[in-house]
Amino acid sequence: MQRFFKGTIAVAVALSAFSVQGATVTANLTLDASAKSAPIQPTMYGLFFEDINYAADGGLYAEKVKNRSFEFPHGFTGWIPYGNVSIEQGDGPFDRNPHYARLLPPSHHSKQTGLDNEGFFGVSFKAGESYNLSFYARPVDGKYAELRVELVDPASKTDGMDVVAAKVKVDKPGWNKYEVTLTPNRSVTKGRLRIYLRHKDTAGVDIDHVSLFPAETFNGHGLRKDIAQALADIKPGLLRFPGGCVVEGTEFPDRYQWKNTVGPVENRPLNINRWQFEFPYRLSADYYQSLGLGFYEYFQFAEEIGAAPLPVLNVGMVCQYENPDPSVQWPVDSLEEYIQDALDLIEFANGGTDTRWGALRAEMGHPAPFGLKYLAIGNEQWGPEYVERLEPFVKAIRKAHPEIVIVGSSGPSADGEQFDYLWPEMRRLGADLVDEHYYQSAEWFRDNASRYDNYDRKGPKVFAGEYACHPKGRKFNHYDASLLEAAFMTGLERNADVVHMATYAPLLAHEEGWQWRPDMIWFDGDTVRLTSSYFVQQLYSTNKGTSTASLLSDKKPLAGQNGLYASAVYDTDASAYIIKVVNINPDEADINLDIEKLPKKASLGEIKVLYTTPTADPDDNYYSADMLSHSTIAAPAVEKRTADVALKVPARSFAIFTIPVKK
Ligand code: AHR
Repeated sequence: MQRFFKGTIAVAVALSAFSVQGATVTANLTLDASAKSAPIQPTMYGLFFEDINYAADGGLYAEKVKNRSFEFPHGFTGWIPYGNVSIEQGDGPFDRNPHYARLLPPSHHSKQTGLDNEGFFGVSFKAGESYNLSFYARPVDGKYAELRVELVDPASKTDGMDVVAAKVKVDKPGWNKYEVTLTPNRSVTKGRLRIYLRHKDTAGVDIDHVSLFPAETFNGHGLRKDIAQALADIKPGLLRFPGGCVVEGTEFPDRYQWKNTVGPVENRPLNINRWQFEFPYRLSADYYQSLGLGFYEYFQFAEEIGAAPLPVLNVGMVCQYENPDPSVQWPVDSLEEYIQDALDLIEFANGGTDTRWGALRAEMGHPAPFGLKYLAIGNEQWGPEYVERLEPFVKAIRKAHPEIVIVGSSGPSADGEQFDYLWPEMRRLGADLVDEHYYQSAEWFRDNASRYDNYDRKGPKVFAGEYACHPKGRKFNHYDASLLEAAFMTGLERNADVVHMATYAPLLAHEEGWQWRPDMIWFDGDTVRLTSSYFVQQLYSTNKGTSTASLLSDKKPLAGQNGLYASAVYDTDASAYIIKVVNINPDEADINLDIEKLPKKASLGEIKVLYTTPTADPDDNYYSADMLSHSTIAAPAVEKRTADVALKVPARSFAIFTIPVKK
């Protein structure tokens, strides 16, 4: 993780600084159709979901009520209480979430008793869409109480505040679940949920786990449809979860514990989100984890979008940034519980329904195994303290589950002492993949497209697990940064024999609740904004091909010469070569492509081009407007076995040429 601080001087790093302005850029490329190729892994382009920037509660998890179980340390956080209302505990319906709210008839100081929930930066709702409200309630006298529930617009000027309302009779003794569907007739972005006691002739009511979901969620499984769909549209081959630093926590009780995230949502204990306080200048004091989006929902979502799950588990270490002293880490000789968590997670995902954890999976609604194949142990840990803890995990997992592919860490940086120490150690321990992280400068992305060209092919494979271009002084989403990501990614693609997985980070950010940027997707209560980095990821993923192809310029990969980058793949299903070219110059580039050694009777079909283009102000934050252009260029005349094709790549753009081959 790179720490950055308020007050950095904004220094614009224009792409033009990398190239000669006003000059025509040219390159000769040769695609050798007979050269050795390597398969592109289905996992090559994936997603990394971490609960940062309100990505889970307030984001992908569609719950609209904040602090639904009254478990936040300040029990009314997220709520505006009025009248005779208090937080109680001890005899609530859920033992791991012991608090609840008690609403008694108002005293002489107030006329109403009730609670408003402010949601996550407002409770948003849309006209004509339905919302399911549910809560657990108990009449204080064991007989009867009545509640009025409303979706309100606090800023309403002309109408009443209650956009839609209903009465709920709490008429059974003891704790019971009550449900009502609300369908507002107008849309409100910064609304509230209001619940108040109809206090005439009643002794009051206790309420707990107050939940409001849109009736429509992604596949009906509780995730916000628009955000989930944006993720699905990338067609990711991998889904890394749940972090990131949240895996570690800053103290052991705060670490992410997957066992707390399964079973009935009402009884999943609240956890503090370590991003709440990470950056004091963006303190997010109400950031907790309800864990409603837990490991079951994660496996289910991964399955629905066709992504292989890659869980990351705690290795017995808390965040080393906050805890640099190795002696605070969990004792190496007492790691049994942590190792058992890993083995049990494999059982939860893949075990038979006659096993303890497999049975829970079935009970939750998924008797079939989730087919877990990959497991990462430790996030971006470093030092001997990581290696000595990872070792017993590797031994235990290999023994019990030799089929599992193990991912180890190379630390928080793309190079340097820790990186150089960890790679050989990962080899020694026999990790299958090594996770590399790079939040790096524009210059780094410009200069590192060859990073993997000479990597050792014999050892573990590479997982580029967290990366994003962070130009100095411009750490926000803009077009130039994403173009450099596209440039760098030609190097991932060219080296797909050793790079098996790559995931940009972070994935999601609430417009009003972010701690870290840039991010791939921005959202608020009811809209989603895709960034240019999103489109870059999507273009790679949806044009990833099935095998690498050799593409050289003067016998070398085109990896930044004259501000140009290129890579090629072959796609068996489309029977086509897919060539990616990135031009970071302020001028159009002329590319002469020579396709050599095609099979004798082969001919080339019409070439399709897709490219990104900076049509709006590229300095705009979250830049994404009109990002994609499409065109087709006429079929080249193909004679014999060689084709010369002239390709044009617009200034500052990422172009994808699909060249069908009829064999
Ligand atoms: O992606 C944000 C953070 O960056 C991750 O939590 C961590 O792994 C890295 O330091």
